[in-house]
Amino acid sequence: MFFDPRMNDVSNCSSMKFVSQLKRTHYCGHVNEQLSGQKVVLMGWVNSRRDHGSLVFIDLRDREGIVQVVLDPKKSETSSAKDLRGEYVLAVEGIVKIRPDGMKNAKIKTGGIEIEAVRCEILNEAATPPFQIEDENVGEMLRLKYRYLDLRSPRLQKHLITRHKVAQIVRRYLSDQNFIEVETPILFKSTPEGARDYLVPSRVNPGMFYALPQSPQILKQLLMVGGYDRYFQIARCFRDEDLRADRQPEFSQIDIEMSFIDQEDIMALNEGMLRTIWKEIKGVTVGDIPRMTYQQAMDRYGIDKPDTRFGMEIKDLKGLVTGSGFKVFDDVLARGGIVRGIAVPGGGTLSRGQIDKLTDMAKKAGAKGLVWIKSEGAGKISSAVSKFFNDEKLNEILKACGGKEGDAALVVADDFDTACAALSTLRLHFGRELKLIDTSKDNFLWVVDFPLFEYSPEEKRWVARHHPFTSPQNEHADILVSGDESRYGQLLAKAYDLVCNGYEMGGGSIRIYRNEVQQALFKTLGMSKEETETKFGFFLEALKYGTPPHGGIAWGMDRLVMLLCETDAIREVIAFPKTAKATCLMSDCPSEVTRDQMAEVGIKLSAAAEKFLEEANSKS
Ligand code: AMO
Ligand code: AMP
Repeated sequence: MFFDPRMNDVSNCSSMKFVSQLKRTHYCGHVNEQLSGQKVVLMGWVNSRRDHGSLVFIDLRDREGIVQVVLDPKKSETSSAKDLRGEYVLAVEGIVKIRPDGMKNAKIKTGGIEIEAVRCEILNEAATPPFQIEDENVGEMLRLKYRYLDLRSPRLQKHLITRHKVAQIVRRYLSDQNFIEVETPILFKSTPEGARDYLVPSRVNPGMFYALPQSPQILKQLLMVGGYDRYFQIARCFRDEDLRADRQPEFSQIDIEMSFIDQEDIMALNEGMLRTIWKEIKGVTVGDIPRMTYQQAMDRYGIDKPDTRFGMEIKDLKGLVTGSGFKVFDDVLARGGIVRGIAVPGGGTLSRGQIDKLTDMAKKAGAKGLVWIKSEGAGKISSAVSKFFNDEKLNEILKACGGKEGDAALVVADDFDTACAALSTLRLHFGRELKLIDTSKDNFLWVVDFPLFEYSPEEKRWVARHHPFTSPQNEHADILVSGDESRYGQLLAKAYDLVCNGYEMGGGSIRIYRNEVQQALFKTLGMSKEETETKFGFFLEALKYGTPPHGGIAWGMDRLVMLLCETDAIREVIAFPKTAKATCLMSDCPSEVTRDQMAEVGIKLSAAAEKFLEEANSKS
């Protein structure tokens, strides 16, 4: 790039070289004892500077690590050492020297050597950064605003390099298995995955919109119709939904689809990929991957993505509490609900305040309350419901939950989903709080036999649990065709999720490949013929032209890398992530556009949007 010194305030900085004669020979983090005595040229950023007067020590950093450089400010070639400050960009030519014993630094991988500089050029200055790159105590908001600086940290370098390696392993593994990588459009029609769509207005067709794909689901199925029987893509997906620590509005999937296969083929292929990734990234041999049905997962852990690294399983108490006279339990059981509980090891000492907090936690998960039973030692047992259950019964309930002397039992009565949600939340809370989770291992699990539908009380209709292209299990297909709504809850899908340490790492299904079955399913979901035609007419049409039986899966690439990097924030493995409010603090987006731009795509703001903008502008 042309550089005109008059345009900048740096024209009088004599030590700054804009065109260096030096050529980089190594990464800072790669210099080692084997290079002892050799001349190297390094380029990187000043991580820290220690001035000892006669000598200046610099920690020089690049994406591969840090190395110590020793400069003599009295020598003309290294005199720039006097001017160096944090984050200046340097070119250093020097000799690799073994550090004397006692001067070695075991904390960094180059700690056995240092570079004795023979020349140091400042390639660029840096303003004082708003935080020290390696300072772990800096608030995330500030780090997100200056993401490019945080990206210099060893932490994020490790994460992004791991992400790169995973992408390479996946590409190689799948290519070796005869898969071909195909890109699918970002500007497309709505693809239902249960979230809201991000919409893109069309200038050329005012009033019309594209939807960014929530996943390439329909497109990959159309690739099967197109005969590309083994497809994969590392695909960008966009979902406008409430964000959590493991969710981003835009994320990547390792998206896979295959023809002429069954569920077992897909599971075997993905187990192979999982083993390859864990072996190559973590050096770990993954053994057999257990399977659990959705029903078993819910019964034992209260959730369809259980963290199986610890026990504390949920226990059914119906047999023990039936007819107790405690109205809450009696009513719930009478309406077909459940009464279940967990045991908290050592929970006999839980205080009133702690129990109140646990009750709030259960209520947040939807439950109406929480019954506790505490074994306080020396045979003493206390409970919120001692009016209804004598000590012997309370002890029996505690035991049935898996508790013993000194423990507590926490019991929830509610409809199935609510009670499961509350107990699962409590279980996970104690798993972490009591450090019951062995974080040194990764536990994998296939969850299979998901329900095909779930009833949405808000929408008063059945909705697809996975997505509406998922096939029912063979023996259940007649229920679908029968149109007997009372049995829809029993329909099982050919769907499977891959779970790791309590995260849903991936999920997929065998698809419906026959036009009439697909139409029946849309109808079951309450879609009219017109709606089906407008939304999925092109897809149903395609199913008529010789669609092969097919199925697939998509892994959450970000979640996978998150698990491999042992972090619990998805933002940590994405170069430029968004906040929980779906904003980018660095570029300040989403942001306003001009009225002209809006007019061009035929958009006018509502009064509510105008008000939001006004308030946002007055704040900034
Ligand atoms: P599903 O919706 O289950 O299936 O998504 C597959 C995987 O993508 C990850 N994931 C996310 N990761 C980060 N942020 C998000 N907002 C987010 N949402 C989902 C999860 C999840 O397991 N088309 C189907 C797949 C198929 O049937 O083949 C699909 O998208 O790890
Ligand atoms: P109450 O009869 O309202 O005083 O409730 C007695 C105990 O039952 C309290 O500890 C409540 O938190 C608890 N409770 C109320 N509803 C439920 C429920 N659905 N499941 C479990 N415990 C409940």
